[in-house]
Amino acid sequence: MANKLSLTASYIAVKFYGLTLNPKIASHFKPFTISFYEKVVSYLPAKLSWNQTAFRSRFWRNFFVWWEELLLPGDLMHIISRKYYVENAVQKAINAGCEQLVILGSGFDHNGALFAAENLPSFEIDTPSMIEHKRKMLTKIDFNSEYLNLCPIDPANQNIKEVLLETGEFDPNKKTVFLAEGFFDYLSLDSTRAVMKNITFLCPDLKLISTFFDLGELNFFHRFMFTSGVAMVGETLKLPLNRKEFLSLLNEFDIKIENETSYSKIEQDLISKMDIDLPVLKGFYILESYKC
Ligand SMILES: C[S@@+](CC[C@H](N)C(=O)[O-])C[C@H]1O[C@@H](n2cnc3c(N)ncnc32)[C@H](O)[C@@H]1O
Repeated sequence: MANKLSLTASYIAVKFYGLTLNPKIASHFKPFTISFYEKVVSYLPAKLSWNQTAFRSRFWRNFFVWWEELLLPGDLMHIISRKYYVENAVQKAINAGCEQLVILGSGFDHNGALFAAENLPSFEIDTPSMIEHKRKMLTKIDFNSEYLNLCPIDPANQNIKEVLLETGEFDPNKKTVFLAEGFFDYLSLDSTRAVMKNITFLCPDLKLISTFFDLGELNFFHRFMFTSGVAMVGETLKLPLNRKEFLSLLNEFDIKIENETSYSKIEQDLISKMDIDLPVLKGFYILESYKC
């Protein structure tokens, strides 16, 4: 599938764009981040970018939120939350001495461009077709930085170590922050172990920022809506672990959690500051960890 666009990655951008039309939400993000996703949405094919016009109408925005909340409560605010907390966690890792950023399954995420624009060597890894879409999108918006490396991977035949070293820019001896936002959920247990083995072997000094969904915390109907929503766009949630099992998998690779942000903490913190009356998806966690 030469030109396959990840619809999960695309809908993240669409939802973020639509929600940040609300100034109460937008005021918590950098102008760079807001305008990045607006430009992603303009880049997307018409069947997705029509949302840009529709969302300008308050009626359609409210209808969209009502409909989404009916099917999977908290899905919308989990997108806002992950973009907010992950960007802050990457900044924290840089402040703590990380000198390069690797984004696993980067999709249309903005962090590579944001931090490359601040001269941090950044490496985005995704399938060849998604990397091609990202390259075209960045060209269309005139984004250019010698610090941003777009790295296509053929997961069946290549590993992360090879694609990073092939760039000639990646230095395994530098302290590195790896970002896995909405990534491991799409990998099998064996592939997740292979990625963990690969990155911990490659970089002795690393931090890992990862999102995690514990589907067991959702009721039957919401779990069905989550998994079938992903399946309907041709992708599959494959990681069969609950939160406790995921933490012990990280532990196998000497990865220790230094900060965990749960959906309930996000509701008490960010969402109440925004003064927004919407929940955050149950079972959603953001994990900040390091190799000891
Ligand atoms: C749900 S999207 C998340 C995108 C982005 N991280 C974000 O949160 O905005 C998952 C992304 O992972 C990519 N992906 C899935 N399996 C992958 C693999 N084995 N190697 C690299 N990328 C992969 C998909 O192409 C897609 O862009």
